[in-house]
Amino acid sequence: MAEAKPPDNLPRHVAVIMDGNGRWAEARGQGRIAGHQAGIDAVREVVRSARERRIRYLTLFAFSTENWNRPRLEVDELMRLLQRYLRSELDELHEHRIRVRAIGALDRLPRVVRRLLDRAIADTAHHDGMDLVFALSYGGRAEIVDAARRLARDAERGEVDPEQIDEKVFAAYLQAPDLPDPDLLIRTGGESRLSNFLLWQLAYSELHITPVMWPDFGPGDFAEALDAFSARERRYGLTGAQVRDRSQGGAA
Ligand code: FPP
Repeated sequence: MAEAKPPDNLPRHVAVIMDGNGRWAEARGQGRIAGHQAGIDAVREVVRSARERRIRYLTLFAFSTENWNRPRLEVDELMRLLQRYLRSELDELHEHRIRVRAIGALDRLPRVVRRLLDRAIADTAHHDGMDLVFALSYGGRAEIVDAARRLARDAERGEVDPEQIDEKVFAAYLQAPDLPDPDLLIRTGGESRLSNFLLWQLAYSELHITPVMWPDFGPGDFAEALDAFSARERRYGLTGAQVRDRSQGGAA
């Protein structure tokens, strides 16, 4: 069933690549970990801003499969920060009816993180205010390969007819198939790349790349990204005239 259109032509689903923690810290003569610590405050702020703007789905790229290759100390600290976040934010998440979810190779996470995450997911599963999705130990290609493997198994068992496989059938095998594709991708830190994030789901997303480093990304920057999105015309391969015709109730 189609959900209500969000207010003021706002995105229903915003995805964020939170980049620039390390550079932010280095620019201040501090270690990279100080940047990740400051990044937590920015996470808190962006969750608040998204909620206040009634964004229905917010997905944050918190840790990639490639991030496991960072120095051990940095990985450990990121895992500690995740624990701290999950412990300290739960009350506020409950208060605002935020449902916590996660995608990625979660079985690679340290047991204590996994336990806290599972608890946050279970405890908030009934909330319907906003879905807050953490991409953790996440890689877009790995997600697609995993979906292909499970689909192939079902086809082998005769549960799926290979001739009937289309984009909709395939997408149902992704990790969170009920999530709509992101309407807007925000990337902080100024780099223009996807970094293996939601490769399938971002096919038609609008991109907003800002030079602001993640720890400095605040409500004003989030509002700017939403404003830029509102002003854009999403054409999905159509002409501008076709899109305008449709939005005025013309061709279906
Ligand atoms: C990229 O910055 C950021 C990360 C690899 C981790 C993101 C983590 C946080 C924002 C804090 C913890 C998150 C949660 C959800 C509690 P970078 O280190 O690659 O920065 P650089 O490009 O400047 O080196």
